Amino acid sequence: MNLRPFLAPLIVAFLGCAAAHAQDNQTIVVYGASGSIGGLIVDEALERGHAVIGVSRSPDRLTVEHANFTPMQGDVTDIESFTAVTSGADGVVISVQGTPEGDFAPENSTHALAAGTAAEALVGMENAPYVLQIGGATTMLPTVEDMLANAPFPVSEGTEPYAMLIGHKVALDTYQASDIDWTVLTPPFNIMGWTFNGITDTQRRGEYRTSTTGFVTDAEGNMSIYVADLAAAAIDELENRAFVRQRFTIGY
Ligand SMILES: NC(=O)c1ccc[n+]([C@@H]2O[C@H](COP(=O)([O-])OP(=O)(O)OC[C@H]3O[C@@H](n4cnc5c(N)ncnc54)[C@H](OP(=O)(O)O)[C@@H]3O)[C@@H](O)[C@H]2O)c1
Repeated sequence: MNLRPFLAPLIVAFLGCAAAHAQDNQTIVVYGASGSIGGLIVDEALERGHAVIGVSRSPDRLTVEHANFTPMQGDVTDIESFTAVTSGADGVVISVQGTPEGDFAPENSTHALAAGTAAEALVGMENAPYVLQIGGATTMLPTVEDMLANAPFPVSEGTEPYAMLIGHKVALDTYQASDIDWTVLTPPFNIMGWTFNGITDTQRRGEYRTSTTGFVTDAEGNMSIYVADLAAAAIDELENRAFVRQRFTIGY
C-alpha cells in the first residue's frame, strides 16, 4: 500500500505545529526582572511580542511600562508562591542570585534554592512551563577544584563568593536530577556590557554559537558574549526548545 498520500499531509501538519510553537506569543515569567540580566530578558521578550510577568520580592522596583508587562510579588524560594505565579505560563526564566545573611552554604544560595523550588513545584503540574535558569560560567569546568582555581575572583570555602560560585553547581545538579523540562543557560566568563554594578552597554551582534560540552571560543580565542545577545539567547531557547533537559553555553 502506498502511504505517501497519507504521510505527506501529516508531515506538513507536524512542521506547521513546530513553526506555530516557535512563533506563538508566550506568557513568560521572569524571576530577577529587577536585576541586570533579568531586566534585559524582560525587554527582549516584550520586544518579540510575548506577555511577561516580572517577579520581584518588592514589585514596586519594577518600573517597566508596557501593555504586555505585569509586575508580581513573589519569592523564588517559596514553593507555594512559585506554583501560584507560574501556573499557566509557557516559560519561566530564573535569573537570580543571593545568599542569606551570614549563611554561606552553597545549597542555601538563592540560585540553588530556586532550582529546588522549580523542580518540586513543576514536577506534577499539568502543562508545566519550560524553565530556563541563568547559570555560572565556572560550572563548565569538570571539578570543584577547577572551578575554584579558575574563578574570576578569589574564592575560599565558607565565604560568600564560594556560596555564589558553587551554588550554581548545586542548581545544575538539582536540575539534572529532576524530572521537569529545564535548561540552564551558562554564560561565558566574559559578559560584555555587564558589570557587578549593572548594564553598561546593550549592543549586540545578533548571532552566537552554542555548546553543551565546553566554552565557545572565537577565532581569536575569546570566550565572550554581549549581555544583549545573552538575553536574546534566553528567549530564543524558550521559543525553540533546543536544549530541553540539557545545559548549554554560548559565545561568538
Ligand atoms: N559569567 C557568569 O557566569 C555570570 C555573570 C553575571 C551573572 N551571572 C549570573 O546571572 C544571574 C543574574 O545575575 P545579575 O547580575 O543580573 O543579578 P542581579 O542584578 O544581582 O539581580 C538579582 C535578582 O535576583 C532576584 N532575587 C534575589 N532573591 C530572590 C528571591 N528570593 N525571590 C525572587 N527573586 C529574587 C532579585 O530580585 P528582587 O530583589 O527584586 O526580589 C534581583 O532581580 C545570577 O545567577 C548570576 O550569578 C553569571
